[in-house]
Amino acid sequence: MEHILIAVAWPYANGPLHLGHIAGAYLPPDIFGRYHRAKGNRVLMVSGSDAHGTPITLRAEQEGVTPAEVVDRYHSQFLDCWRKLGISFDLFTSTSTPNHARVSQDIFRTLLEKGYIYKNSVPQQFCSNCQRYLPDRYVEGTCPLCGSSGARGDQCDSCGKPLNSTELRDPHCRICDTTPLIKESEHFFLRLSAFQELLRKWIEAQRHWRPNVLNFSLRYLDEGLRDRAITRDINWGVPVPVEGYEGKRLYVWFEAVIGYLSASIEWAGGDEAGWRPFWSGEARGYYFIGKDNIPFHTLIWPAMLMGYGGLNLPYNVPANEFLTIQGRQLSTSRNWAVWLPEYLKSYDPDPLRYYLSANMPEGGDTDFSWQQFYSRNNDELVATYGNLVHRVLTFVHRHYSGEVPRPGTIDAGGQALLNKAAATLDTVDRALAECHFREGLRAAMALAQEGNRYLESRAPWKSVATDREGTGTSLYVAMSVISCLKTVLYPYLPFSSTRLHQYLGLEGSVEDPWEWQRPTPSRGLPGPSALFAKLDAKGIEAEVSRLEASP
Ligand code: MF3
Ligand code: ZN
Repeated sequence: MEHILIAVAWPYANGPLHLGHIAGAYLPPDIFGRYHRAKGNRVLMVSGSDAHGTPITLRAEQEGVTPAEVVDRYHSQFLDCWRKLGISFDLFTSTSTPNHARVSQDIFRTLLEKGYIYKNSVPQQFCSNCQRYLPDRYVEGTCPLCGSSGARGDQCDSCGKPLNSTELRDPHCRICDTTPLIKESEHFFLRLSAFQELLRKWIEAQRHWRPNVLNFSLRYLDEGLRDRAITRDINWGVPVPVEGYEGKRLYVWFEAVIGYLSASIEWAGGDEAGWRPFWSGEARGYYFIGKDNIPFHTLIWPAMLMGYGGLNLPYNVPANEFLTIQGRQLSTSRNWAVWLPEYLKSYDPDPLRYYLSANMPEGGDTDFSWQQFYSRNNDELVATYGNLVHRVLTFVHRHYSGEVPRPGTIDAGGQALLNKAAATLDTVDRALAECHFREGLRAAMALAQEGNRYLESRAPWKSVATDREGTGTSLYVAMSVISCLKTVLYPYLPFSSTRLHQYLGLEGSVEDPWEWQRPTPSRGLPGPSALFAKLDAKGIEAEVSRLEASP
């Protein structure tokens, strides 16, 4: 039994979730968590709403409400989405809890005492028109690295480089467009430069990381790590636990990554015996994030952990690339996005989980298109998998009075298919353990295709009149394969696997174990209904024109 910490990126609670979030950072850890729970491992899957920082305050100012109102609204919307989509967090909390503030301040103090945090006076941008210091995202300008305009003060979206807002060329205030003045302000800095060599050694040893994550992190180290300010002139966030700093807050990125730890502590009710096994010894921490968050998880958070001591560094950071929408880059500001709450109003969760898994941006960007969503639902989920299940189960109902047929001798063809099922269980097992989600799904669907071919070749609807026992044997083989599919597809398609578990009359719960359960001969089965619904292609045009109507 292993301890698996599944650390999931904390979404800013400043707007609804969209399919880019789901494909990038939320579906993969859920598949991984369900798989490990089924394997009998101890899983702790945590995340929460990122409640701080300028993404929240900007939104609140635009709406004329408090930041807390914005956070509350989206936090409850997130919880609702996780439930409907089946994202099975052990805890989804928020960075606005007192526990999170306490843990963040503890880490800050320790790093300060150890000399990894130091004080410095820094030039800050100050808007003379707004009469305030401008936090990172309130300043926009030209990226010093790639030269693209519209870079934000915390990061350039074009090249992905995290920035200090004073590094921007041609800076201007995002609220009023004034060119900011420079004023000195006292801030705390994280001594990242002290970790340069330790980080390089550590990262170079992570041969199991995805190449994109490994290379990105190494390239970043090649530029040389610079110390970064970890406090801000802002009044929303975790207070700086030092006297004289009442008007400042911890920088959102510094405290948000601490959320993985504070959420683990909250989950354990503060009991160290509960959370520490997930953070020490042989425990493995997997951090599921989108590619724009890579440096924070492969460099900054590990540096903080090295400085703090006694806690495991990430074991893997399987960051995903981006999902484009109908061939164009997703943009929330231009409303070029498919919003999850909207999706969930009209469709079931499993078809989305299926399509995004089959099309997951694991090694490079991938595209979401409504045409493809519909065709994969209709041609693969319905016509391949669903149809196999439905044909077999309804046939058993009609011709074997709804009882699992008692198998006679299984012939070579049936045995070959059963062997294929056993091999598929192993293949999917290995793929999921290595976070190769597309590969695992491909192997499962290949088995469903084999099952269909087998059924076609046996044609029970013809043979049942003349060979009832042989036909029953074929049906038993087919039901066994379906049971194997139920298990390997459960992490991807939990809703339909839960129903299938019942239709097959299997013991125990669908959540465990990761093994191939055979149906029990003569057991009476509940009446099945179709696992998936065919989607009317008329819907495609409606969805695409809704997207294109957006401003
Ligand atoms: N809120 C950040 C984002 O959406 C992600 C934070 S991940 C964390 O990009 F680890 F810092 F919390
Ligand atoms: Zn201004």
